[in-house]
Amino acid sequence: MTSDEVDLNGLRPADLPALSTLLGTVRVAPDQPPLRVRDLVHAPMRSGALFDGATHAELLYLRPPMPLPDVSGLPSFPLPAPDEKLGAPLDETIEERRSRHHFGPSPMSCATLSTLLHHAAGLRGYQPAYNTRTYPFRRAPSEGGLAPVDLLMVANDVSGLPQGLYLYDPADHAMAQLDRGNMRGKLTEVAPYASWLFSAHAVFLMVCDMSRVEWKYGTRGYRFVHVDVGVLTQNLYLVGTALNLTTCAVAAFDDEATCEFARLDGRERFVSLLFACGPPPGS
Ligand SMILES: Cc1cc2nc3c(=O)[nH]c(=O)nc-3n(C[C@H](O)[C@H](O)[C@H](O)COP(=O)(O)O)c2cc1C
Repeated sequence: MTSDEVDLNGLRPADLPALSTLLGTVRVAPDQPPLRVRDLVHAPMRSGALFDGATHAELLYLRPPMPLPDVSGLPSFPLPAPDEKLGAPLDETIEERRSRHHFGPSPMSCATLSTLLHHAAGLRGYQPAYNTRTYPFRRAPSEGGLAPVDLLMVANDVSGLPQGLYLYDPADHAMAQLDRGNMRGKLTEVAPYASWLFSAHAVFLMVCDMSRVEWKYGTRGYRFVHVDVGVLTQNLYLVGTALNLTTCAVAAFDDEATCEFARLDGRERFVSLLFACGPPPGS
């Protein structure tokens, strides 16, 4: 070990600036209770605690990464035209929405998947923003319109889609295929406390892409991506309910195993939540 190396639980010298910044954001009076992990996590993400995002001056010329997933080179399965009208009153839909684990034997139609994605996570259109004439905006709101959450989807039983792992491509309203095959068993491995996922027709993996928010919001962006996941989750719950689907969010999954399964590095891109849906029993 050289004189400028420090051995702190395996920390490398290159890690120390982040640690020192983190500690610099925490202020605790001597009579306060001991720090908890969440105090350390929350401290640098308070407004004004750590400004490492884009300044107003920089925003005048910066061009952000496009808020869309990269589907180049992937086989594309276009979704059929969605139903523009859901036809269910919002008050009744909110009242009926539940988290349930039971699915029926018939496949989920591709038309239903299309309508679900169109209303819950689809592209509304393009507008000028961020020094770009055609910046995409979605039906789900997000901080600064940065849309950092992509939807991966395991298709267990969706008519017209071979079983496999897909990425929703909002620009073309299509499913880009990442992998083929029966992944029911894999789902129960990465989420052993939600073994009922085995019989879900489709399971979404909500993937946060930090590069889409960090250029603007810096460290504070980590707070926002999870808010976006919540927004999308409620959209999926409500549109799914309006479409008479069984719906359930799932936080009980193994982060490392799920990221490995989805081929994500777990740092720049990681899974924040799962969401299962499909026709209910008797449908
Ligand atoms: C962020 C989040 C994570 C959840 N994780 C799970 C889960 O891992 N397993 C599960 O069975 N339900 C999960 N749920 C569903 C909740 O248990 C459910 O929303 C709650 O019990 C209230 O019931 P309701 O949704 O039917 O109103 C989750 C819900 C949310 C919003």
